[in-house]
Amino acid sequence: MSAPDDQSAYWNSTGTTKTFGHPLNPAWTARIDRDAAVLDYGCGYGRLAGELAALGFTDVEGVDVAPELIARARAEQPGARFAVLADPPGLDRPDGGYDAAFLFAVLTCVPDDAAQRALVAELHRVLRPGALLHVSDYGLQPDERNRERYRRCEARYGRFGVFETSDGAVCRHHTRDWLDGLFAAFDPVDEREIPVVTMNGRPAVATQLLFARR
Ligand SMILES: C[S@@+](CC[C@H](N)C(=O)[O-])C[C@H]1O[C@@H](n2cnc3c(N)ncnc32)[C@H](O)[C@@H]1O
Repeated sequence: MSAPDDQSAYWNSTGTTKTFGHPLNPAWTARIDRDAAVLDYGCGYGRLAGELAALGFTDVEGVDVAPELIARARAEQPGARFAVLADPPGLDRPDGGYDAAFLFAVLTCVPDDAAQRALVAELHRVLRPGALLHVSDYGLQPDERNRERYRRCEARYGRFGVFETSDGAVCRHHTRDWLDGLFAAFDPVDEREIPVVTMNGRPAVATQLLFARR
């Protein structure tokens, strides 16, 4: 069985109870002009879009598959615009229409290979040449709790690193080779690994990658 590529029902129900925490990288964010057209793809309840607006960014748009999360984002973050993705990953935007994009803890929610490739191809389409793409997500985690669930779910989903959470999500942690291949159409600019707390309150290591659209 391959991993499901549409989990919008989870994100519109159980997902609305979660707190997201991957932090912006201030040095990377400082490289974007304050009047740039910025996309926050998979924006959840607008946490990052709100932080970007507070930093002085004047043109921030968040999009997400979950209408409940977008409703909360609209209520809490007046400094940004928000839209529900009607036909993910398709964006209602011309080629090269954004100057920068953020993709924070979204790939982990899209376990299927083809769905991830389509998502990244759509980001490539809507970013102008030279635009910066900020990615924050999870590599394979070394601890035994994660390793055990990767092993348990490997046969079912055909991929080491895909796992089921106890509350019904199917998530993915990534090999470095997979991430390198996924973003091969972008130029790597910088990267770092940082400690984070997952949406289920567990400590983990996040991989943050900064790319330039070729
Ligand atoms: C862990 S949350 C992170 C939210 C936000 N990026 C943040 O860091 O605060 C993942 C988000 O991705 C959204 N999502 C899941 N699958 C998606 C897809 N195929 N396309 C766009 N968004 C998706 C979920 O609805 C959820 O809001």
